[in-house]
Amino acid sequence: MNRNELIRALPKAELHVHIEGTFEPELMFAIAQRNQIEIPYKSVEEVKQAYNFHNLQSFLDIYYAGAAVLIYEQDFYDLAWAYFEKCAEDNVVHTEMFFDPQTHTDRGVAFATVINGLQRACDDAREKLNISSHLIMCFLRHLTEEAAFETLAQALPYKDQIIGVGLDSSEVGHPPEKFERVFAKAREAGFLIVAHAGEEGPAEYVWQALDLLKVNRIDHGVRSEEDSKLLERLIAEKMPLTVCPLSNLKLCVVDDMVQHNIQRLLQQGVHVTVNSDDPSYFGGYMNDNFFAIAEALDLSHAELKQLAQNSFEASFISDTEKQKWTEQIAALN
Ligand code: ADE
Ligand code: ZN
Repeated sequence: MNRNELIRALPKAELHVHIEGTFEPELMFAIAQRNQIEIPYKSVEEVKQAYNFHNLQSFLDIYYAGAAVLIYEQDFYDLAWAYFEKCAEDNVVHTEMFFDPQTHTDRGVAFATVINGLQRACDDAREKLNISSHLIMCFLRHLTEEAAFETLAQALPYKDQIIGVGLDSSEVGHPPEKFERVFAKAREAGFLIVAHAGEEGPAEYVWQALDLLKVNRIDHGVRSEEDSKLLERLIAEKMPLTVCPLSNLKLCVVDDMVQHNIQRLLQQGVHVTVNSDDPSYFGGYMNDNFFAIAEALDLSHAELKQLAQNSFEASFISDTEKQKWTEQIAALN
């Protein structure tokens, strides 16, 4: 098998994808029209031209504007279903997707509307596509601690449908410590914990995510490389980093894919995984991310298999499931 054939054939788990970031312009237009909502673009081409981000905030401004057309349960279903169809194409057999309840509840959409639409798509994906999934709810870090506590309270009746709690949105100036207390409460309630850290923010935010939020995984974490003590800790604890190469390129976290540190981190023993983050905005889904790093960094077959293997090990599926995927990966050449 050549390298791209191997990438396609590998079963993969996606651990870092924002469902609102899978919103393709065509679907955005269709939903805006049926909900009779004005969007500031005349065509799909105009939408794509607006995607000329140069940092996280310039992306987030457009991402939140796009999400504003989502109103009804069916909208959330359609959004997630379209993503599951991409998973099927890319042999992503398991996904743990983020959703941002506050992006919707702040516009008057009920928490139940969001979760019911997403859950129905997850159930259909399991039944019709044989793809398993978990939902992870993220707090928007540019909002207050109080708002995060309110969101946590809204989530409690849906505890069985939400496996974990995360932290996303504008990183710099909103350190993990701002949310220490609400994450303690989420942990007590039995949620697993993840947090974006070390994307644009410094290595110090990764320390805080570990020590104060007590995360099970770090989302991004690529700036951890700037702190050798932190790298030692990540390696010793086998702490997963959910790395998103095309996102890092599009948001100028790296200037060129050949400079991406995912291979260096992998070779040092950091538990890195490959993910798409916001694929409709950043130019590709799971396999596109693999193709991009494989080519730029000349990844070996063994490294690609290790990355796929890491994705299951770092996931929140059972040990039996992990074992099943490990065997399938090992059998590929
Ligand atoms: N929300 C959606 N994508 C994000 C990212 N890459 N970083 C922080 N917040 C986000
Ligand atoms: Zn993200």
